[in-house]
Amino acid sequence: MNLKGKSFLKLLDFTPEEILYLVDLAAELKAKKKSGIVHDELRGKNIALIFEKTSTRTRCSFEVAAHDLGMQVTYLDPSASQIGKKESIKDTARVLGRMYDGIEYRGYGQEIVEQLAEYSGVPVWNGLTNEFHPTQMIADMLTIREHFGKLKGLKFVYMGDARYNMGNSLMVTCAKLGLHFVACTNPKYYPDPALVEKAKEVAKETGATITLCDSVEEACKDADIIYTDVWVSMGEPDEAWKERIADLLPYQVNAKAFSYAKPEARFMHCLPAFHDLETTVGREIHEKFGLTEMEVTDEVFEGERSIVFDEAENRMHSIKAIMYATLK
Ligand code: CP
Ligand code: NVA
Repeated sequence: MNLKGKSFLKLLDFTPEEILYLVDLAAELKAKKKSGIVHDELRGKNIALIFEKTSTRTRCSFEVAAHDLGMQVTYLDPSASQIGKKESIKDTARVLGRMYDGIEYRGYGQEIVEQLAEYSGVPVWNGLTNEFHPTQMIADMLTIREHFGKLKGLKFVYMGDARYNMGNSLMVTCAKLGLHFVACTNPKYYPDPALVEKAKEVAKETGATITLCDSVEEACKDADIIYTDVWVSMGEPDEAWKERIADLLPYQVNAKAFSYAKPEARFMHCLPAFHDLETTVGREIHEKFGLTEMEVTDEVFEGERSIVFDEAENRMHSIKAIMYATLK
């Protein structure tokens, strides 16, 4: 398997074998880290991290993974660089490509990360766009495989806002790897029909299925995994909350949803999650709308089915695998 020089922009660009190779490599690098085996094989390389939206997991994962691999990191936030305001993405790409061995980008449109890759001449890694969150996918598949021992054939239910980066990416990933994907939500939040068609095409080859369903009972019946994400994503206006709450509260992940699932079913979330009142936004929503928890109840989030912190840890191991595979 040779992914050297390739950018990691969305999973549609990768074959099932390549995706599984990255999951395997992430597991291998995780084992090395746990047993204290030094793996700084990318010594001497430099990478740039561009964040036009905030981050905890993705930024820390890139930084720790880069350091473990022996690389140096430059962090660029939009307020401290010329990107977009005084210099186009095309020009920025050509400058950074002369200095760095790889570039991570988190921001808005997918076209930005595609353009960075086209013009920089070095591997570009998508750290989240409005449309896709591909590094999260390798971590999620690794986490599922650790807990279930397999991927193919599992029933994966995604509840909530299925028309944004997480819903899109998970649908494509399940299609590629042969899981049965169900978007369980208000039909206003079903993924883009063109992408659903693409995922269905892929699914034909892999034995996956893609289902859109607005009944929680039907969708969650015999589920292996129930997954959700925030109802209003970064970059969306605060005014969206009112409508989202009205539309998506019936699709909150709670004990009732899990009562239909398999006894061994697990809960996943890319995080950050609104499951209590310990955040500023959580408290603001509570004041305005009276909710104490949103896309997932605190009971499920803190409960024994929740594997969200294994998932968060795996972000680092999988981002390391993605950088290693494309740079080594
Ligand atoms: N899941 C995820 O991407 O987290 P951050 O926004 O904290 O990077
Ligand atoms: N859909 C979320 C994912 C965060 C990791 C967002 O874009 O804000």
